[in-house]
Amino acid sequence: MKPDLILRRAVIHDVPSMLELIRPYVEEGTLLPLPAFRLFERLRDFVVAEDTGTVVGCGSLVIMWHNLAEVRSLAVRKGYQGTGVGRRIVETLIREAEELGIERVFALTREPGFFNRLGFREVSRETLPHKVWKDCLHCPRFSDCDEIAVERLLPRTATPVPDVAFPEIPFDPTLILPSLVKGNPKGDG
Ligand SMILES: CC(C)(COP(=O)(O)OP(=O)(O)OC[C@H]1O[C@@H](n2cnc3c(N)ncnc32)[C@H](O)[C@@H]1OP(=O)(O)O)[C@@H](O)C(=O)NCCC(=O)NCCS
Repeated sequence: MKPDLILRRAVIHDVPSMLELIRPYVEEGTLLPLPAFRLFERLRDFVVAEDTGTVVGCGSLVIMWHNLAEVRSLAVRKGYQGTGVGRRIVETLIREAEELGIERVFALTREPGFFNRLGFREVSRETLPHKVWKDCLHCPRFSDCDEIAVERLLPRTATPVPDVAFPEIPFDPTLILPSLVKGNPKGDG
C-alpha cells in the first residue's frame, strides 16, 4: 500500500499523464481506445491517484441511469500495479456513487479477480441495459468480446428519499450486443 497516495478529481493538466498511462493498455487491447477529445469530454467523471507528483492511476464513474453507473477507463501505471492504487481508485468511485444515490455499479472487464476483491460479483451481461453497449461499437473486439460483467450493489442511503418516477430506458434497435468469444465459459450469450 502506498502511504503517500493522493486521490483527487482529475484536472486539465493531468490529461497528458492520463493518456500516457492508458496508452499501453489500449495498445495491448486491454482497454478501449480513449482519444484525447473523448477524455476532455469525460474529464469530470475521472479521479486520479497521485504519488509524489506523478499520476499513477486513473478511473472514471460514468452514470448510465438513475440506478446504474459504470467504472470505466480504470488504469494503473505500469510499474505501480499491485500496490493498492487500483483499489483506492475504485473505492473512491464507489464512495462517489453512494453519495450520488446510485444503487448498482458495474464494470466490463478482463480482470474479474481484481473486482471480486473489491466486493463485485460476476453477472450475466443481459442484466445490463442495452445502452451500456453503445461504446462497444468502436471496440476492435466487438465480434469476439471476452469482457466479463461484474457488479456491486450499494446499500440504500439511511436517509429516506422520495419515491421518484423515472422513465424506462427506451429500447434502441440500432444497438446490438458484442458477440462473445466462442467457448468463453463466462459468457452468457
Ligand atoms: C486491474 C488493475 C486496475 C488493478 O489495479 P492494481 O493497483 O494493480 O490492484 P491493487 O493493488 O489495488 O489490488 C487490489 C486487490 O486486488 C488483487 N488483484 C489485483 N489485480 C488482480 C488480478 N488481475 N486478479 C486477481 N486479483 C487481483 C490484489 O492482489 C489485491 O488483493 P488484496 O485484497 O489481497 O489486497 C490494474 O492492474 C490495471 O491497470 N490493469 C490494466 C487495465 C485494466 O485491466 N483495467 C480494468 C478495466 S475494467
